Amino acid sequence: MKKLLLIAVCLITIAITLTSCTGRNDDGQITIGILQMMEHPSLDLIRESFIEEMLALGYTDVVFDHRNGVGADMTTLTSIAQIFVGNEVDLILAIATPAAIAAAATTSDIPVIFAAASDPVAAGLVPSLQQPDANVTGTSDALPLEAIFDFAYELAPHIQTFGLVYNLGEVNSVAAINNAKTLLVERGLSYREATVAGTGDVQQAALSLVGHVDAFFTPTDNTVAAAMPIYAQVAIDAGLPIFTGADSMVLDGGLATVGIDYSILGAETARMVSRILGGALVADTPVVVMQEFRMIVNRNTANAIGINLEGLGDYVEIYP
Ligand code: TRP
Repeated sequence: MKKLLLIAVCLITIAITLTSCTGRNDDGQITIGILQMMEHPSLDLIRESFIEEMLALGYTDVVFDHRNGVGADMTTLTSIAQIFVGNEVDLILAIATPAAIAAAATTSDIPVIFAAASDPVAAGLVPSLQQPDANVTGTSDALPLEAIFDFAYELAPHIQTFGLVYNLGEVNSVAAINNAKTLLVERGLSYREATVAGTGDVQQAALSLVGHVDAFFTPTDNTVAAAMPIYAQVAIDAGLPIFTGADSMVLDGGLATVGIDYSILGAETARMVSRILGGALVADTPVVVMQEFRMIVNRNTANAIGINLEGLGDYVEIYP
């Protein structure tokens, strides 16, 4: 009798486990875990545009369980990813490369869709952009480095040495920085670097380069983006331009960039998620690399450091 009871209990447990494994409850409720690396304006915009497009696509009763990491701390990102996996969410949206790395390392069956991974191959998220092959794919904001340095030359042709400020712990930055170094050397320019481990290091890193460089360059580095106003102040005080990887960093006081529109990236990521929820295989869904770039300059910063904006083509967007 005891044995029978035990078997019955086991069967019921298995039945419950199986039902919850589908991740949907009886009314077909879908839950998306949103793992946002940290808070800074660009990542916030991606998340908002993603949700807005999901709603526009008709996913009005999806539960968006949104949680942010703190700084560049991988431990927090991994714990959040584990909570999502434990809760059996239907899909994880991972915003920024470190979040995607944490999510991809935590599950090999729940779809992990990343948003704005600058170099998903270098980050080990996918073996190739065309054929992700596993449960991870997404959208990429790969930097148009040639165009950024062309624009830097147009605005400030005297620059010989760039100061590179970035977080060595962000694979997305390291990959872009390596490409930037190759490009600068090809162009006969030089660089010096100052790396940071957290947002609190940015001011000191920038100051350490003043007197040794003619300008700064920072790719889409999340840690530096979160400290952009402080970084911009150091550069303005020293009369030096900052060229960046993202528009938000120019709005926060950098001089200029050639970059994508992150609200378009957020919406594009939502369309990919919609295809996957509709049954498309993640393994066969290529990474979408954003291809449309805008040239953006900050007028206040230009005025403060004496850069002349007259004569720029009217395709250049000047803020404010
Ligand atoms: N591209 C970054 C990454 O791979 C994420 C990112 C998106 C970002 N927009 C940004 C970083 C703006 C800095 C500034 O992680």
